[in-house]
Amino acid sequence: MARWDELWVDTHLATMAPAGGGYGAVVDGALAVQGDRIAWVGPRADLPGVPDQLASRVTSLEGAWLTPGLVDCHTHLVFGGHRAAEFQRRLQGESYESIARQGGGILSTVDATRAASEDLLTTAATARLAALHAGGVTTVEIKSGYGLNLDTELKMLRAARRVADSFPGTVRTTFLGAHAIPKEYQGRADDYVDVVCRQMLPAVVEAGLAEAVDVFCERIAFTPAQTATVFDAARSTDVAVKLHADQLSDSNGAALAARYGALSADHLEYASAEGIQAMAEAGTTAVLLPAASYFTHADRFPPIDRFRSAGVPMALATDCNPGSAPATSLVLMLNLACTLFRMTPEEALAGVTRHAASALGLSDRGTLELGQRADLAVWAIDEPAELSYWIGANPCVGVICGGQRVLTRPAAGGHADRPRPA
Ligand code: NIG
Ligand code: FE
Repeated sequence: MARWDELWVDTHLATMAPAGGGYGAVVDGALAVQGDRIAWVGPRADLPGVPDQLASRVTSLEGAWLTPGLVDCHTHLVFGGHRAAEFQRRLQGESYESIARQGGGILSTVDATRAASEDLLTTAATARLAALHAGGVTTVEIKSGYGLNLDTELKMLRAARRVADSFPGTVRTTFLGAHAIPKEYQGRADDYVDVVCRQMLPAVVEAGLAEAVDVFCERIAFTPAQTATVFDAARSTDVAVKLHADQLSDSNGAALAARYGALSADHLEYASAEGIQAMAEAGTTAVLLPAASYFTHADRFPPIDRFRSAGVPMALATDCNPGSAPATSLVLMLNLACTLFRMTPEEALAGVTRHAASALGLSDRGTLELGQRADLAVWAIDEPAELSYWIGANPCVGVICGGQRVLTRPAAGGHADRPRPA
């Protein structure tokens, strides 16, 4: 009797297991799944028998690499409209911040999202998620935050959950009611925070529509004190906290996130040395968003060296949103993180696998290890550094979710010449 459902051979593994360091690479490896779990992983030579007798199905990957399915741990995939006009204003020299101060930016997407039907939001987000998925993503986080009133925040979160219905991977949702001060509350931000805490958060939790709460702590959004008020309200629920922190200025966001035991603090261009130390002590993951830095012409990049020397885990995400990062390729983020931030290709891949899973509080994925969820991506590459090297190519040729092959696609870009699984 075969022990495993499926055994993958003729493959190399980037296990991303912490013990091995780097990629945790296994050249000429093998990986078996049983149900939705990894049942065996290691060098093919160590297999405890003949492949055909070990598994009901044996599949050759013809030399392709396997990595953990990618985790996009920070997106705003559900939104109405787009901001191409604002993009052109920024190209003429206007800044992201000054457009926001004039009532554009996030608030213009709020108008479009309030006007959009739940069906339309679901359809548009489904298409964006399909693009991420074709690039190896098997777990995605989706935030609300373009409703800024109860009905529309719930509509966005329901749309995010409906996207999950047609996605073989995992969707985690985050309530970002404190993303901007809505027009109706201009000059009365504290009143809006009160609504977020007393009306919106309880309704979202009651409906079971979010696993985490996020706030945009910034001089164009919410103060550290207002952020703390939202996090205090979250304490009486079972949702985790995350923070858009120190993106445009140092608001002490990193330290604030750490103080509340946040899963992650995200952006962090202006994070202070003290904030980074506090994150290290609290075990808060830094989520770095190179598309936003690139697309907004950020005047500084996150202090990678400091995160590295403090031992703060660095995750990478697309931040897919219509204003600062209209990006639907997580693989492209590896290239941007290496080129702009000078992360290493090993760090970049850990950032979209193991550390991205930590940023979502998920310990059952992000590495190829015994007992982990069998979420895998198959790549037509000769070595893992190629994932960071190509600009805008998609070397992903297959995706496996929970042990099931859910996507096989032709190699594209620089990879058409590579061997690939049938
Ligand atoms: O992560 N910084 C705040 N929120 C988003 C941008 C939202 C928008 O501009 O629509 C971000 O960059
Ligand atoms: Fe964001």
